Order: sequence, then structure tokens, then C-alpha cells
Amino acid sequence: MSPIRRPLVGGNWKMNLLSAEARDYVARLGQLSVGQAEVVLFPSFPLLTTLARGLAGSPVALGGQDLHPGAKGAHTGDVSGPQLVDAGCQWVLCGHSERRQDHHESDALVAAKVAAAIEHGLTPLICVGETQEERQAEETFAILERQLRAALPSARDRFELAYEPVWAIGTGATATPEIAQEAHAFLRRTLAEVMGEAIAARCRILYGGSANPDNAADLIAQPDLDGFLVGGASLDPDKFLTIIRACGWS
Ligand code: 13P
Repeated sequence: MSPIRRPLVGGNWKMNLLSAEARDYVARLGQLSVGQAEVVLFPSFPLLTTLARGLAGSPVALGGQDLHPGAKGAHTGDVSGPQLVDAGCQWVLCGHSERRQDHHESDALVAAKVAAAIEHGLTPLICVGETQEERQAEETFAILERQLRAALPSARDRFELAYEPVWAIGTGATATPEIAQEAHAFLRRTLAEVMGEAIAARCRILYGGSANPDNAADLIAQPDLDGFLVGGASLDPDKFLTIIRACGWS
């Protein structure tokens, strides 16, 4: 954790929860103080309006899990930036590994989505990360650099980053604090080369991949780790709040 970057914690619900569960969740979240970390929930699209109503007046922000690069048109099953804004979003995930893998999203498509997010007033949370095979082949830095350099030209100066090693997502095999710090420091150095020192110094780089209440404190102690993008553990408001509290900023 850095003294200058306010921690940011995202809850990526992926394709989970129904509207009644989302309402219960918000009620439980609202009873507890989230401290000084900035918090964003990324529910699936049908839950956005339920959450927007439930979170009105709360400091918790809302984001979409994906967007189409276009503003409108004949794109069955897609959601646009203006629609996300209309549903109450301030944020959007771009380039999550489940989109890159399951939907064959290329670096160029991720860059187009980042550009659309910025154009429509959303803050993109750009996700990068290597697979197990790429790590074993010692390609981690090359992959991170390729994914990051492709997305950045569209990002101007309003974006945040998430390092999500694919091998750690949903597996329980969390990156050690040392492995996470090494990747985060590499990403920040690359950011400085591409965007300049000032942007690299202010950008929050979140860790995602089996983050949970037991490992959050050790991970957030790393100097280049500025919060979490939480999947499974964010479905339980108590676990999610414990992770948020581990990011207490003083
Ligand atoms: P898990 O926390 O379930 O490993 O998911 C991480 C993730 O993909 C967040 O975007």
C-alpha cells in the first residue's frame, strides 16, 4: 500500500446472484463502514438497476463487467457505454481474462473498449494477466507488457489497472505477496515508460486472483499493490468487507 494512492477494492460478481440476493447484499453492506478504501461493485447487467437503487447515497460505486466499443446498434447480447452510464455505472472492466479467453477478445478489441469507456465518461479498470503456461515458459513480463501497451494509448489519463494472473483466478492458488509485487512493480515501470512518471505514480494497480480475508493483509502490505479485484470472496458481504478493511488507509 502506498501513502499517496487511496486503495481501491472492486467486487466482480461475474455471472452470480439474483436480484433478491443483491438487495440483501446491499442491506448488509450498508450497515458497515467501508473505511477509506474506494469500493466498486461489478454485478452482471440485469442487476445494475437494482444495485443502483440500493446503493443510492452510499459511497459504493457501480461498474459494468464489459461494454461494446460502439455507442448503439445491431449487436445482439451486447451492452454499450451510454447504457452502462444510464444504468448508474461510473466504472467498467475491460479485458478481463474470462472475456479474453471465453470470448476471444484480442488486445485490439480491449483497446477499443477502453477508448469507448473513456468517450462515454466511464473509468476503465483494465485487466491484464498471464496464464500458467505463459508463466512456466517465463513469458509473464512479455505478456503483461503486450497487454498493457496495447490498451494504454486509448486510456488517456483516466484508468486504473488490475493484475489478475489467470492461474490464480478461482483456483485458491493466490499469488504470493512477492510474486504479486514483482508483477505490479513491472506494470508500474511500464506505465512510467508509456504514460510518464506522474500517471504511473497515481495509477492504482489492483491484485485479483483468489484474494480472500486470510491473504489480503499480506498482499496489501506490498508497496505497489493498491487494492483488490475480488471474485468469489466478493459474493459474501462479510468476506468482502473484511478485505476492504484490510485496505484501511492511514
Ligand atoms: P477470484 O477472486 O474468484 O479468484 O476471481 C478473481 C477475478 O477474476 C476478479 O475479477
